[in-house]
Amino acid sequence: MSDEYVLFEKREGIGYVTINRPDKLNALNDRVMRELRQVFTRIADDDEVKVVILTGAGEKAFVAGADIHELSVQTPVEGKTRSQYGQDVLNLIERLGKPVIAAINGYALGGGCELAMACTLRIASENAKLGQPEVKLGIIPGYGGTQRLPRLVGKGRAMELILTGEMISAEEAHRIGLVNHVTSPEELMPTAERIARQIMANAPLAVRFAMEAVHHGMEMPQDEAMPYEATLFGLCCTTEDMREGMRAFLEKRKARFQGK
Ligand code: COA
Repeated sequence: MSDEYVLFEKREGIGYVTINRPDKLNALNDRVMRELRQVFTRIADDDEVKVVILTGAGEKAFVAGADIHELSVQTPVEGKTRSQYGQDVLNLIERLGKPVIAAINGYALGGGCELAMACTLRIASENAKLGQPEVKLGIIPGYGGTQRLPRLVGKGRAMELILTGEMISAEEAHRIGLVNHVTSPEELMPTAERIARQIMANAPLAVRFAMEAVHHGMEMPQDEAMPYEATLFGLCCTTEDMREGMRAFLEKRKARFQGK
């Protein structure tokens, strides 16, 4: 087994990031978080990677949370620093400028659920279990969970998950909009790859600006988000890809986008 806690490889435009600590259910210790930051910083600058798929090693877990051994001995100042570091790493993933698909292959608890929520899309295997069990340990979600969960599933459902700390099935996560699709374990990666390829077939700059419009626009009042969207729309109109996309439609052929 590799001694790296975060594995990275790329094939045909897809970057595969695997959290590789299966004997501890891929729990996020400080080293995993550092390696995650390094890998995603590299991916941001790697033009060969168009879409990322993030998953966990082994059969059992995507990520079973922050490392409770480390959490159990932290001082208040260390707790704040750890929380902010984790938030920064997850913000980096959320604002990567490339879609990141979480392939949730088992437990996604605490920091694992928060990590999945920082991704652009979530596909879960039917054996996955998701939840925010922090209150059972006397803490609250600290990697953005109190903010991203209500934005994804609504305030009432987020409150119930965060306050009870109970795990939910992949099916229930799908029902409430926490995950986009549920598949069999065998179909998890093929489904993530199929969606990655669907996205990669589209104009790369349009994909990037669409993500920006959604991410930043959601944090603005709608009256400000609309002109922001219009400006990004206008920016798309300057691209060669827009001309190619429209021309290809009119000529009844497949577009050949160049990201220009
Ligand atoms: N931090 C550190 N170690 C963890 C961990 C975490 N969040 N989650 C699991 N592990 C470790 C266990 O300590 C165990 O290590 P060991 O073999 O050295 O004792 C190993 O991973 C396997 O976990 P185990 O609990 O034996 O598996 P299980 O199938 O019985 O239970 C879970 C699986 C996910 C229900 C259980 O591990 C769990 O509740 N984990 C903590 C979840 C959590 O509270 N996360 C939020 C943290 S803020």
